[in-house]
Amino acid sequence: MPDSEPSGTPALALRALGKTYGRGAGAKRAVDDVSLSVHGGEVYGFLGPNGAGKSTTIRMALGLIRPSGGEVLLFGKPVSDKQALRRVGSLVDGGTFYPFLSGRDNLRVLARTQGSDGARIDAVLERVELTRDAKRKVKQYSQGMKQRLGVAAALLDDPDLVILDEPANGLDAAGIQDMRTLVRGLAQDGKAVFLSSHLLHEVEQICDRVAIVHKGRLIREASVREMLDQGEALRVEAEPLDKAQAALEGHWPVTPEAGSLVVQARRADAPAVVRRLVESGADVFRVAPDDHSLEDIFLTMTRDADA
Ligand SMILES: Nc1ncnc2c1ncn2[C@@H]1O[C@H](COP(=O)(O)OP(=O)(O)O)[C@@H](O)[C@H]1O
Ligand SMILES: [Mg+2]
Repeated sequence: MPDSEPSGTPALALRALGKTYGRGAGAKRAVDDVSLSVHGGEVYGFLGPNGAGKSTTIRMALGLIRPSGGEVLLFGKPVSDKQALRRVGSLVDGGTFYPFLSGRDNLRVLARTQGSDGARIDAVLERVELTRDAKRKVKQYSQGMKQRLGVAAALLDDPDLVILDEPANGLDAAGIQDMRTLVRGLAQDGKAVFLSSHLLHEVEQICDRVAIVHKGRLIREASVREMLDQGEALRVEAEPLDKAQAALEGHWPVTPEAGSLVVQARRADAPAVVRRLVESGADVFRVAPDDHSLEDIFLTMTRDADA
């Protein structure tokens, strides 16, 4: 898994992308100065609460709506380049299918509109594990099956870049697991995957890198590992608490919480933390790693961005 941005021409590059809906007093800045790149072989998560601007960004990336500023590059070419756009497969709005047609027939219709002979239909159905249900009408599909059919549709033209808007939406735990395996497999095949979600736990284990977007702005981009590292903290129980806090402040960020202290220090810093506490004369009852999930980090960061 790449820990920082891979090199080479990115499959998708957003450069200072912006979008304002409407004009005048009612204008809404939905996306503001977003820059990022996604490379082959990686899964890039675009994470943010509802209304953050994820779908707007994805629509611009696909050339479905026009940016107010900045640019989108697909394989180094503008989104208006038909050759480049042909290398992109996408799932937006959960995919739109004819409910009265079977899964396979829906893909047949789609293949025809793409001008292909549909030779890949069986392969993509297999890929998303819908072979057994391919003959059933889509109206009988569960949410998870519909989402997987949506991914199958995105894969039909064997894209090098796959863009999925909230692929885990409405899925249960098993469905999320299936989606995770599917998406990881795409990256293993060397495809670039850009996906959005408003729930971190859905994508925490799928993505190599994540960008957190809030109110249209990218507030942080990092590898999942870096995000988790930054969330590392130690929980300290000591008395008197104010004395302990004073001993640590200036060395690490310290926040009192529920009768203990949360110290933004790595596990490796624990001995140094204990030493400072003991030297200050505080009584130490407990020092333990306080692992933050990406979810916590996400909450903290979006809260900070609100302040
Ligand atoms: N067609 C539109 N016209 C006006 N405002 C819109 C339109 N689409 C989205 N918005 C607004 O832009 C912001 C971002 O929306 P969206 O991109 O859908 O966010 P997300 O996908 O992260 O939930 C929201 O405040 C939303 O209400
Ligand atoms: Mg959305």
